[in-house]
Amino acid sequence: MASERISILDGKRILLGVTGSIACYKSADLASKLVQAGASVNVILTDAAQQFITPLTFQAVTGHVTYTSMWHTDSSGGLPTHIAHVGLSENADMLVIAPATAQHIAKLANGFADDLICLTALNCRCPILVAPAMDGNMYDHPATVENIRKLQERGIIVIEPDEGRFASGLVGRGRLPEVPTLIGHIRHHMGREWGGLRDRHVLVTAGGTREAIDPVRYVTNRSSGKQGYAVAQAALDAGATVTLISTPTGLPVPINATAIIVESAQEMLDAVLEHSNAADALIMAAAVADYRPLNVADQKIKKTDDVLTLDLTRTPDILQTVGQQRKQTGQPYVLVGFAAETQDLLKNAKSKLRRKNVDYIIANDVTRDGAGFQADTNIVTIVGADGNTLSLPQQTKSAVAEVIIQRIAARLQTIPHRQRK
Ligand code: CTP
Repeated sequence: MASERISILDGKRILLGVTGSIACYKSADLASKLVQAGASVNVILTDAAQQFITPLTFQAVTGHVTYTSMWHTDSSGGLPTHIAHVGLSENADMLVIAPATAQHIAKLANGFADDLICLTALNCRCPILVAPAMDGNMYDHPATVENIRKLQERGIIVIEPDEGRFASGLVGRGRLPEVPTLIGHIRHHMGREWGGLRDRHVLVTAGGTREAIDPVRYVTNRSSGKQGYAVAQAALDAGATVTLISTPTGLPVPINATAIIVESAQEMLDAVLEHSNAADALIMAAAVADYRPLNVADQKIKKTDDVLTLDLTRTPDILQTVGQQRKQTGQPYVLVGFAAETQDLLKNAKSKLRRKNVDYIIANDVTRDGAGFQADTNIVTIVGADGNTLSLPQQTKSAVAEVIIQRIAARLQTIPHRQRK
């Protein structure tokens, strides 16, 4: 995930502050992954951090000089001014302090300016993310709790540390999260600053529903959930609040999405209806079973006859239900369905568009190589209710998701924000 270019990070200038914790080893990988995502990364190391890791490590992965002293003046011409703390802060789209020790959190909370990170943070007007890392007792200490609260009150984003084993051998909460999690937070908060779906609530469904036969068996389909999860991530990158209603897929839930795990079409319908009236957009990427077993056996069905016949009955059509409902409620403002077809792609997509009262159908021919269920790429045609169609060449599901989200954002621009509760 993190080793590919990430549109919301591409071309962004990230200032990474690294303070003295054993978790510093993760910062080198973080810097590297941010660079691979397309960001330009400047790094500041404190004296204590240099006990664990060297400036050269960061110079090697970022291609930029590592800043280590508040007395440094920068003659490279790469910063807006040669005064390092001013130049670095003016030049940054985001300041990320990872790991942030208890000491540095205390200094930031109290406005200290006695090292380059604190000095730069005071001058920063861009978003600041702080990722604490310390032993559990230190993290739970009332002084640290109070300092973190102070930072949050000032709009600084504090990333919740992980629970687990510390270098000390003790177990508790205070571990620096893994790099993909840190990147997940960074991209979402970049989206909150620059994305096209800030203050919007996006509902996404994903995965193939499971329709029970008996307590151990179910009917399902080949959906992997990859396209739906990519849509959820693209919506987060655009700054949206995202609720992801998914069947169990085994995929990691995108950082900052609220996941609701369901199994059957009926459970998915119930979850969607609970949220759809407050959503700005619903993207039904789930492969919802059209039929379910009519009777679910209470006990495991034993093999007896050579032929076992299952009677199937229709499941509720979630998209159609929401499409009908929004004729009264007006919401979700934008409704997007998928059409996985094996023949008559456009004809079927257009008929679904009308029948289900949706704004866009993302049609894909699942028989084509590089498209469909398990693949990491897709080949889709976006069919709009306005009659416009857009055929996209084969590309990653993430890239397809971004195009879908751009369409939704453009459409929502014409619709005013709801009064926020
Ligand atoms: N869908 C849904 N509820 C269902 C079935 C499908 O909400 N019970 C949604 C899917 O999530 C997808 C869209 O409807 O976004 C199209 O699904 P598809 O199964 O291809 O459409 P159908 O209308 O069931 O058409 P077909 O006759 O091809 O089965």
